[in-house]
Amino acid sequence: TSSSSLRHFVSIKDLSDEEFKILVQRAQHFKNIFKANKTNDFQSNHLKLLGKTVALIFTKRSTRTRISTEGAAAFFGAQPMFLGKEDIQLGVNESFYDTTKVVSSMVSCIFARVNRHEDIQALCKDSSVPIINSLCDKFHPLQAVCDLLTIIENFDISLDSLNKGGNSKLKVAWIGDANNVINDMSIACLKLGLSVSIATPPGIEMDSEIVNEANVIAERNGATFELTHDSLKASTGASILVTDTFVSMGEEFAKQAKLKQFEGFQINKELTAVADPNFKFMHCLPRHNEEVSDDVFYGEHSIVFEEAENRLYAAMSAIDVFVTNKGDFMHLK
Ligand code: CP
Ligand code: NVA
Repeated sequence: TSSSSLRHFVSIKDLSDEEFKILVQRAQHFKNIFKANKTNDFQSNHLKLLGKTVALIFTKRSTRTRISTEGAAAFFGAQPMFLGKEDIQLGVNESFYDTTKVVSSMVSCIFARVNRHEDIQALCKDSSVPIINSLCDKFHPLQAVCDLLTIIENFDISLDSLNKGGNSKLKVAWIGDANNVINDMSIACLKLGLSVSIATPPGIEMDSEIVNEANVIAERNGATFELTHDSLKASTGASILVTDTFVSMGEEFAKQAKLKQFEGFQINKELTAVADPNFKFMHCLPRHNEEVSDDVFYGEHSIVFEEAENRLYAAMSAIDVFVTNKGDFMHLK
């Protein structure tokens, strides 16, 4: 099978603003159906992958991504197959190329959680079915779909009436590292016209390709995009405060050095005091105390657990659009 016409889901930056909006809308649509438990709807419309399989090639741990993907597969009638690094020959006994050819010959799509962005690109090149990036060092698109669903719900934003500059007063402040989650989240926020301010410790800079793209989208949608090393500045007036672990999977060897580098970057009373009084706190999880204090993480402004639940609907949307509909946003069934 030729893979040239396949549409994979690697990053939010590969989507048009409209396409991203549709993915978030579909996630909301499936959430409504799932919550209402409309069983007739389930049967007539949603068992679109009955008898098929969904592969999860995961070389790293996962709670949310695994559960949401397996749940979404089940929702559409497909059988998920979790292929962890202890389960298959990949990496020990078999090459990436051979594994990709074999797995993709038997499944409807591959959700892949790998270390390097280059591994995702290799999968996309050699797979005969859609690849859904389930976290690499550079991107985490499923998290971004979930996060923007969570934001539009909490701030009552209608996706039907997005107008240039209309959401730019909503500032999303990221206090933390500069890698996968914020790369896709910043592009995602700007695509919906929200403003973004990112505070990283000195010595940690955003990827220049993302910065260039973010600036273009911000300009187009009347929003602002700011980079700083001052966490108070980023947090000032923010409607959403968000962070991620300071030590990503695969970086454990550098833990002590990173924790030192991030001293003073914890989201706590000091930072929330300068945010908008109605701010919300978000975190993709898993969470540790060094990046956010307990009073914020478990406090009344925190929406982290509904955010986590929304991963399920983001996975449903991704399967529906990229697998059932083969990435054809123009003719979604
Ligand atoms: N947020 C997220 O991707 O969590 P997991 O690593 O548990 O999948
Ligand atoms: N930045 C984190 C995200 C985990 C969901 C990591 O890469 O480990």
